[in-house]
Amino acid sequence: MAPLRIGIAGAGGIARYHANNFRDTGRVTLAAVADVDRNAAEAFAAQYGIPQVYDDAERMIAEADLQAVTICTPDSSHHPLTLAALRAGLPVLCEKPLAMNVTQAREMVAAAARAGVLTAVNFSHRARPGLQLLRRLIAGGHLGKISHFEISYLQSWLMSDASLASPAMRWRLDKTVAAAGALGDLGIHMTDMARFLVGDFASVCGLVWHDAHEHHAGEGGPAIQVTVDAAGAYLAEFANGAMGVFHTSRTAPGRGDFMRIEIYGELGSAAFNADRNDRVLACLGPLQMERRAYTEYVVQESDLAYKTLIHAFVQNLEGGHVTAPTFADGLKAQEVLAAVLSSAKERKWSAVGA
Ligand SMILES: NC(=O)c1ccc[n+]([C@@H]2O[C@H](COP(=O)([O-])OP(=O)(O)OC[C@H]3O[C@@H](n4cnc5c(N)ncnc54)[C@H](O)[C@@H]3O)[C@@H](O)[C@H]2O)c1
Repeated sequence: MAPLRIGIAGAGGIARYHANNFRDTGRVTLAAVADVDRNAAEAFAAQYGIPQVYDDAERMIAEADLQAVTICTPDSSHHPLTLAALRAGLPVLCEKPLAMNVTQAREMVAAAARAGVLTAVNFSHRARPGLQLLRRLIAGGHLGKISHFEISYLQSWLMSDASLASPAMRWRLDKTVAAAGALGDLGIHMTDMARFLVGDFASVCGLVWHDAHEHHAGEGGPAIQVTVDAAGAYLAEFANGAMGVFHTSRTAPGRGDFMRIEIYGELGSAAFNADRNDRVLACLGPLQMERRAYTEYVVQESDLAYKTLIHAFVQNLEGGHVTAPTFADGLKAQEVLAAVLSSAKERKWSAVGA
C-alpha cells in the first residue's frame, strides 16, 4: 500500500508529537504543513522534510492533494479547520478539546457523519501503558463493580514568569482562543480517562478557581490578562452509579505534569501514577484485600492495543478496527466540561448532555 499523504495544520508543540509518531508508523508521507506563522511552518517543514508549506491551513486542505488532515492548532480553530477538511471529504484527527463549546462539537460530529469519513480526537493519555493495563484489569472484572474513581492532574507553569514568556502558554489563558483554562486543557483529559475506564457521566458538581495574582511574561513585563480558570474540581456521578472526584490545576507548586488515578471496586482497587507510566499497583481479591496488600504489575507488550492514538489513526485509515476516541467521544467530553462550568456558575449539580 502506498504511504498515506497527511497534512498537518499548526506547527507548534503538539504538531511535533504528531509528526514524530506519524513518521514512526512507517506508513505515512508528511505531505504538507500549514501555520499562520509562516516561519514556524518553514522551520517545521525543514525539520521533517515536508515538501509543501502553507500559511493558510484551509488552502493546504484545498490544494495539497491530501488523504487525511491532523489539526494541531489552538482550540478556537479546531471547528473551522475540521469543517473545511470534512467538506473536502478528508478524514480528520483533531487535537483536544474537540471544540470551544458543545454547539461546535455537535456541528463537527454532524459534518463528519455527512462526510462519512474517519474521525479521531487525540485524547493521548489513553495510550499510556498503565492506562491500557487499568482498562484491561477493569474490563476483565478483576476490580468487580467500580464504586469510586479519583484523579488529579496538576501543573504549575502559570506561576512561572519564564513559562509565560512563551506564546504557546499565553493563548492558553485567553478565553477567546482556549475552550477553558485548566478545566479545558487538563480537565478534558481527566474526563476522557474516566470515560475510558469507568464509563459515561450522568451529572457533575463543579468548582472553578481563579488565581488572584497578576501574571507577567518575563521579569518586569506587562501584566497578562488571564480570562480562564487557573484550577478546578468536580464531583461526578457516573451512569453506572460509580462516583468520581476530579482535581486539576496550573498553580500547584512542585508539579510539572503530575497525574495520578485511583479506582476502587467491590473486588479490589488499582492505582496509577504517570511518573511510573508502565505500571499499575493493584490490590486484587480476598487475600490482598484482607492483608491490605498491593502488587505492582508491569505492563507487557500484549496489554497494549496501540502505541499512540496517531498509530491507531493510521491503522484505521488503512482499514483497521482499532477502538480509539472519535469525534463522538470528543463531544461527550465537551458535554462534561460544559456541565462542570455551568454547575460552578450556578452553584448546583448539572446533568451532563442536558
Ligand atoms: N493531546 C495532548 O496531550 C495535547 C498536548 C498539548 C497540546 N494539545 C492541544 O494541541 C493544540 C495545539 O497546542 P500546542 O501546544 O501545539 O500549541 P502551540 O502554541 O505550541 O502551537 C500552535 C501552532 O498553531 C499555529 N496556529 C494558530 N492558529 C492557526 C490557524 N488558524 N491555522 C494554522 N496554524 C495556526 C500557531 O502559530 C502555532 O505555531 C491545542 O488544542 C492543545 O490543547 C494537546
